[in-house]
Amino acid sequence: MFLNRLSLVNYKNFESSTFDFDTKINCFVGSNGIGKTNALDAIYHLAFGKSYFNPVATQNIRHGEEFFVVDGQFEKNERDEKIIVSLKKGQKKVIKRNGKAYEKFSEHIGFIPLVIISPADRDLISEGSDVRRKFVDSVISQSDKAYLADLIKYNKVLSQRNALLKYFAANNTYNADTLDVYNEQLKTFGQPVFKKRVAFLETFIPIFKERYATISNSHETVNLVYKSDLFESDLAELLQSNLAKDRAIQYTSVGIHKDDLLFKIDDYPIKKFGSQGQQKSFLIALKLAQFDFIKQQSGVPPILLLDDIFDKLDENRVAQIISMVDDAHFGQIFISDTHAERTENVVKQIHQSYKIIKL
Ligand SMILES: Nc1ncnc2c1ncn2[C@@H]1O[C@H](COP(=O)(O)OP(=O)(O)OP(=O)(O)O)[C@@H](O)[C@H]1O
Ligand SMILES: [Mg+2]
Repeated sequence: MFLNRLSLVNYKNFESSTFDFDTKINCFVGSNGIGKTNALDAIYHLAFGKSYFNPVATQNIRHGEEFFVVDGQFEKNERDEKIIVSLKKGQKKVIKRNGKAYEKFSEHIGFIPLVIISPADRDLISEGSDVRRKFVDSVISQSDKAYLADLIKYNKVLSQRNALLKYFAANNTYNADTLDVYNEQLKTFGQPVFKKRVAFLETFIPIFKERYATISNSHETVNLVYKSDLFESDLAELLQSNLAKDRAIQYTSVGIHKDDLLFKIDDYPIKKFGSQGQQKSFLIALKLAQFDFIKQQSGVPPILLLDDIFDKLDENRVAQIISMVDDAHFGQIFISDTHAERTENVVKQIHQSYKIIKL
């Protein structure tokens, strides 16, 4: 699967631009602020219907304009596929595949398998557990529609339950039956999500460790540890035993929305004990493992976006990463870099066709 052509209208700093791509390697080069990352983000938009960098949809419209259009012409299983994402101020975003608008965006997720590696990934290490949960969810969702559906329903019930807890407190009242209905539903949707997270990590962790070992030449060992209340007991029981607490804090304190994925290096938290290069290597290994997992599940190599990947890495690690992607295992790759020369020298070493796009 690959992207042949990308057209942008009023997308971030692009007024109107069209790019034609190589089926293997494409490099956006140019100075800071020229739009390299924005171009990659536009491709991300076609796969996920949203920006990887800016969650406020309207802020992706070029300043002073009323709408944006991102238009991508893909080839998948030898068929042309045209995906268009557009947004007009004051209206809902529209995603179309071959002219037909999706009713639910979740139906589109997974159709264009894609993995991005970017400096913004550092949030996975520095920020709270919600960012890591989102990562796990987005990997599983790309190949499991039922997972995404359960998760959406779980979150809906969760906010209803939280609203009810607030209502009880505000009105000095309590009704066990209504709460039970929500508890039951949280269990119905949450339990399978937990099971799938466990199963996913069983497959994912060994792939991740292997990727890290290759990048670092086995210099140090890393691990991912799944933390969940649901290892203790069934969600219905947990909700019951935490009822008094939940009523007091007016919030649901246990469940899959509290899960975390701990990042370890030589058994210590990487956030506190990893060097910058080690943290970057950790994130790259995580994303390459995501790539491997999605490929394994879908049979299609995802599009790989590499945003500023060479910064902060020593020559050995850059060489390792390049030899890793120089493999029939990978499909189409998009790279952004400020140094045209460095990029060209790096991609020249890869035995595959490439295109340098100067912005
Ligand atoms: N909605 C918008 N309208 C107009 N310009 C925007 C919008 N959103 C972002 N920009 C501009 O896009 C530019 C940043 O582009 P981008 O992040 O793609 O740069 P880059 O080429 O990746 O730079 P670097 O080398 O520093 O990573 C900034 O100048 C920013 O002001
Ligand atoms: Mg950039």
